[in-house]
Amino acid sequence: MKHTMIEYDNLNKVNKPFADELKNAFRDVLDSGWFILGKNVELFEYEFAAYVGVRHCAGVASGLDALILSINAVDIPKGSEIIVPSNTYIATIFSVVQTGNTPVLVEPDIRTYNINPDLIEAAITKNTRAIIVVHLYGKPCDMDPILSICKKHKLYLIEDCAQAHGASYMGKMTGSFGDIAAFSFYPSKNLGCLGDGGAVTTNNPDFINKVKMLRNYGSNIKYNNIYVGMNSRLDEIQATFLRIKLRHLDAITEHKRCLAKIYHEKINDKFILPYEKEGFKDVYHIFNIRHELRDELRQHLLMHDIRTEIHYPIAPNRQKALTFLNHLSFPVSEEIHRTTLSLPVSTFHSVDDINKVAAVLNSFHA
Ligand SMILES: Cc1ncc(COP(=O)(O)O)c(C=O)c1O
Repeated sequence: MKHTMIEYDNLNKVNKPFADELKNAFRDVLDSGWFILGKNVELFEYEFAAYVGVRHCAGVASGLDALILSINAVDIPKGSEIIVPSNTYIATIFSVVQTGNTPVLVEPDIRTYNINPDLIEAAITKNTRAIIVVHLYGKPCDMDPILSICKKHKLYLIEDCAQAHGASYMGKMTGSFGDIAAFSFYPSKNLGCLGDGGAVTTNNPDFINKVKMLRNYGSNIKYNNIYVGMNSRLDEIQATFLRIKLRHLDAITEHKRCLAKIYHEKINDKFILPYEKEGFKDVYHIFNIRHELRDELRQHLLMHDIRTEIHYPIAPNRQKALTFLNHLSFPVSEEIHRTTLSLPVSTFHSVDDINKVAAVLNSFHA
């Protein structure tokens, strides 16, 4: 039998189908001699806003910057408390700390891995100004109860959509629920560029104007600086790549959802699979399973030449960078970190690859 390794990801293979288009686009930008804030960024912003179903978009340098700029745009007084999920990639929490605010961590629902709406109100104090929801792994959060809480307590809603391009809740796109939303186009994302990139989406013209100034030295007229801004612009070259890949995003999503369906059908009940609920369209940026003996399981797969990842091995409250959280305990989040394993689910994986992963998983005897 032919011996083939099943990779977790391979960004060369991911971009291969678009290689000719990307090379032509590179040539066009090179020939234009215009590299910062030009027509490609403007067109991408217009097209991405239309895709998400909002009025405005601003291209920025990364997902972390998109979060920082979002917090700064909604004008929260420094030292505010911002509610964040305890189970997220660390960037969400860093954005709160780096803007001079205090992250208040709320546990996820053990089935969805997303923030548990039932636990949010208990975390609200007179200093709370915003909630950041994270649509983790590409699964939308339970938005209706969260929107009601924001309305009742007059809190800004910021969405971290870094893993959720094209995901939707009851037919409405993630990135269109919040006062403002942050996206990452890190190369491995479902919509990834060939370097770092990010975007902010919103329906609020004041917020987008502020983001557009803050990303560009606090300026919208050359050498006229209104805010102490950043240099956080999406490059023209990345914008042109993103315009190409945005046209393929729905096909990328469908491929991943098709592979995920096979996992759901084939993997046996020894493993905890992603929770699927009517109306929550998951784009499976990550397809994770959970198992008590995660590390042994990972080894078992590796012995059969199947590569996996762990998103994430260390909970944010256990990270050295966040010592002020180290004394706190988040048992649900820590349980997820202890047991989660991410399976191959990329655009270059075939149905045969996924069937093989499922069969090898099912042969794991603990
Ligand atoms: C949930 C989440 N938020 C924010 C980010 C930050 O994005 P970037 O790496 O583009 O700064 C990421 C990226 O990995 C992420 O997964």
